[in-house]
Amino acid sequence: MSALVEPTLAPTRFERVPVGVFASSLEASQAVARAAAELIRARQREGRAAVLGLATGSTPVSFYAELVRMHREERLSFANVITFNLDEYQDLPPRHPQSYHHYMRIHLLDHVDIPAANAHVPDGTLPRAAVDAHCRDYEEMIRAAGGIDFQLLGIGRTGHIGFNEPGSPRRSRTRLVTLDRLTRRDASGDFGGEEHTPRCAITMGVRSILEARRIVLMAWGQHKAGVVRSAIEGEPTTQISASFLQEHDQAQFVLDQAAAGALTRYRTPWLAGALEDQGRSWDERMTRRAILWLSQKTRKPILKLTDDDYNESGLQDLLQVFGSAYEANLAGFYEMQHTITGWPGGRDPARTRPGDAPVRPLRAPSAGVFPKRVLVLSPHPDDDVISMGGTLCRLVEHGHAVDIAYQVSGANAVSDQSLWRALLFARDAGPAGAESTRHLRDLCSAYEANGVLPADADVTRLKSLVRRHEATAAAHICGVPPGRLHFLGLPFYEAATTQRRQLTDCDREIMRQLLSALRPHLIFAAGDLDDPHGTHRLCLHVLRGALASCAPESWFRETELWLYRGAWAEWELDEIDLAVPLSPQEVLRRRRAIFQHETQKDQALFLGDDRREFWQRTEDRGRRLAEAYNGLGLAEYEAIESFKRYSAEEFLHHAPL
Ligand code: F6R
Repeated sequence: MSALVEPTLAPTRFERVPVGVFASSLEASQAVARAAAELIRARQREGRAAVLGLATGSTPVSFYAELVRMHREERLSFANVITFNLDEYQDLPPRHPQSYHHYMRIHLLDHVDIPAANAHVPDGTLPRAAVDAHCRDYEEMIRAAGGIDFQLLGIGRTGHIGFNEPGSPRRSRTRLVTLDRLTRRDASGDFGGEEHTPRCAITMGVRSILEARRIVLMAWGQHKAGVVRSAIEGEPTTQISASFLQEHDQAQFVLDQAAAGALTRYRTPWLAGALEDQGRSWDERMTRRAILWLSQKTRKPILKLTDDDYNESGLQDLLQVFGSAYEANLAGFYEMQHTITGWPGGRDPARTRPGDAPVRPLRAPSAGVFPKRVLVLSPHPDDDVISMGGTLCRLVEHGHAVDIAYQVSGANAVSDQSLWRALLFARDAGPAGAESTRHLRDLCSAYEANGVLPADADVTRLKSLVRRHEATAAAHICGVPPGRLHFLGLPFYEAATTQRRQLTDCDREIMRQLLSALRPHLIFAAGDLDDPHGTHRLCLHVLRGALASCAPESWFRETELWLYRGAWAEWELDEIDLAVPLSPQEVLRRRRAIFQHETQKDQALFLGDDRREFWQRTEDRGRRLAEAYNGLGLAEYEAIESFKRYSAEEFLHHAPL
């Protein structure tokens, strides 16, 4: 197989296994597909079979698409290929749209000339008593085929390979396992909720995987960066089964830049050697990152860092750039100080007094425009108040024209129990005898008899309605009237329960029309790519697609984009461009707004690792960030909401997707 390691950046001594970093997941997938194709062709020339171990999930989709393209356009034959899949959900029939049998058919097997008998996926339909024997047979079939030549892997956020969840021993073999909570949460979007997501799966074991002759683990996206770093730079541990690849002499990680982002060579490259040797320099970002890192590491406010602190922590070069710790400290301190403003949309010229500091974070050509047209994009109906409720109130108070667009309906996160309660109210409050009241009465009876509501389009519509009313009430608390709310109901979300979610032009067109109509000076959008169901990521894709088609419009060059992080993660300090401090009263007002999303309270029981409700997560996050700013030696606030800036142009080309 050809070497896959990226030529430009040498691996560092921190990495315990070869790593290839590619500019995009598409390029990386194509490189891995070429390597697999080379193996298949080499084996054809020898008259032998090529045995592939295969993974499913979102990661290898482009890999399979490239293999299919090579089959169609470059006559790559699969006649000599034998495949073994890593895993399958237990109790899911092969025809189920989320089964891995189905996945393999639609992504590969139906499109190439592989003999049907050569493709193997564990059988998830057997009674429990028959599973152990099936697992032993599966291993035996792999051995009989001569063992796996090329094993493809993805990595879960628990660090699993296959479904070898934390705690899986190095010696584990193919077996039935219980899925980790986080894994189920990540899969729940595809199954229409965690309660419908399988609890168990059959998976090849760690040992079975490590017996492959060659292993390539692929990972894309920022949400994998942390676990990828642990797997590559940490000790091998049963807590992260992917870390065992370090013990294989033909294993390699293939990453896109976002997934590689937490590796030492990217995150703290000064520890890996001189920056120039790594093709980098002490630009503004890198300088800020190093100074913040040092302040946090030494637990000293920035302005108290000394020459010795810099020297002893491997930042001698940075000290040379500034000449002294004093100068470096000032630069780092003011960079952070200038992220803070209580005027997130800019200052009102009528209320500006001589001597008022300029609002530095705003940079777009429209920075001086007041009031501004502001569009807040909220993937789900509660992300706006959860993630930036305080800033939202400020923008309205300052007199900006604020519109909020709710991108998806959020109906999937309304439990039947919550809807039933709303139906009871509507049934009992409405005029008796009306046709609609009869319908509601029937639905209530159905719930009372069966404990569930029918999973049909009408129930989804009613659930959307519930969330719509909650969002309207929350926006009202923030001062945004119903006439300025836009419920986009992007169609990709509605298909979630029956098939893998896919964006279409229709999603992008709905968003484009809104942007063209509002011509916003400022767009606030969710850059929180760690949300459990991937909805935020898809919403960001929709925004990018829509903005691309708005590029010729005059407002496009004037617009500035601010990405917020949601309930699941916070920006790293060095990524923050705008920090909006909140007073204790503003924190309470935001809490009241979040409280309007009543149906989401019981969701916290299913979703959060720590089962904390969204308002608690929001407040913890805002308080922690305020403490972090304070720890750097900046002012002490009750809470802070933070944002990262992109011009529309930058966003199109460097969005963190
Ligand atoms: C799939 C599998 C899993 C996935 C992993 C990543 O067959 O075995 O280990 O590779 O969960 O999933 P995605 O690619 O969806 O992020």
